[in-house]
Amino acid sequence: MKKSIFILIALFFSMAIISCNQSSKKKDTVALPDISQFKGQIDGKDVSLFYLKNKNGMEAAFTNFGARVVALIVKDKDGNQHDVVLGFNKATDYNNPEEPYYGAIVGPFANRIANGTFSLDGQTYHLPQNNGRNTLHGGLKGLHFQVWDAKQLSDTSLEFTCNLSDGTEGFPGNRQFNVTYTLTPNNELVIHYEATTDKPTVINLSNHSYFNLNGEGNGTILNQKLQIFANQFTPVDSTLIPTGKPEDVKGTPLDFTQPKTIGKDINVKYDQLAFGRGYDFNYVLSGEKEDGYNLACKMTGDKTGIVMEILTDQPGLQFYSGNFMADRTTLSNGVKDSYRTAVALEPQHFPDSPNQPDFPSTILNPGEKYQSTSVYRFSNE
Ligand code: BGC
Repeated sequence: MKKSIFILIALFFSMAIISCNQSSKKKDTVALPDISQFKGQIDGKDVSLFYLKNKNGMEAAFTNFGARVVALIVKDKDGNQHDVVLGFNKATDYNNPEEPYYGAIVGPFANRIANGTFSLDGQTYHLPQNNGRNTLHGGLKGLHFQVWDAKQLSDTSLEFTCNLSDGTEGFPGNRQFNVTYTLTPNNELVIHYEATTDKPTVINLSNHSYFNLNGEGNGTILNQKLQIFANQFTPVDSTLIPTGKPEDVKGTPLDFTQPKTIGKDINVKYDQLAFGRGYDFNYVLSGEKEDGYNLACKMTGDKTGIVMEILTDQPGLQFYSGNFMADRTTLSNGVKDSYRTAVALEPQHFPDSPNQPDFPSTILNPGEKYQSTSVYRFSNE
């Protein structure tokens, strides 16, 4: 009897010690980049760093050079912080034509335009061919390389504006762009885009954050699960320009209708995968709705259990699996941007729409307002 009481007491104390150890275990934290490394001038305009924070401790940093997401810190289920986007520590690291799009707003026309040309209202426009013979992400000095004006609206909201004059990088119209980033109490990063023009033009805006849900620089994304709510994609030629007619993903390695790891089929022999050197495709969103938006995708970090869902009013999602990343740059935590260490998931209109009459229109006329919203919602599994 005495012995069993002794064992019970010992058990009680050891459990108390274990639970005390667990609750006092130090949580991992991630420091946001320092503003002093961002203050300066690019193209004679002031550049800086801006911070947002929600009441749950989700934190983010942005720079007005390219209206970029520099860091996005979310917590896993144990309360450890992870920066889920790739970024740099200094504004000058972003001013690099070799790696131009990290975290940036891409436009005025995100993705590719075939042969750097399109016609609108009987007028032909010529753009810089910065991706083989095609134009990628608005040319050499698209929105990603512009210094935007910034206005901090509150602790959770930030507005960037930028004007492009008629003919900049070959596109028509004096245009005004407005992007608002907001952190909501539901752990969402909401990006709202607006644009106006004084001449008919084409607009396709997206954000080019590179995501790793295990945390920036924390290995490859090949074991992370992805689901894309799309039954079709737009097949491409060897220069990644759509051939025109959407096709079913069913029965192909591009099928992400059910969650699967990004690495599962990435090396399957398939001409489309060979063209992209991995995934680099526009998915035609099926239109499954949540909160009035198209559900675009759901991704889960295998080491952290962090879940990201993207909801959008856009018809497509470009999924790019970091196939061209090659240890060329050093990220903010000192790790290199190694092969497939992140994915870009870009809600947008279909590539090359200005030359593809069957795709949803990307034309914006004077008097109209381009408006679009995408929501990046974080939770834990
Ligand atoms: C494109 C890729 C390109 C990458 C550059 C993506 O949006 O789909 O082909 O290499 O941007 O960062």
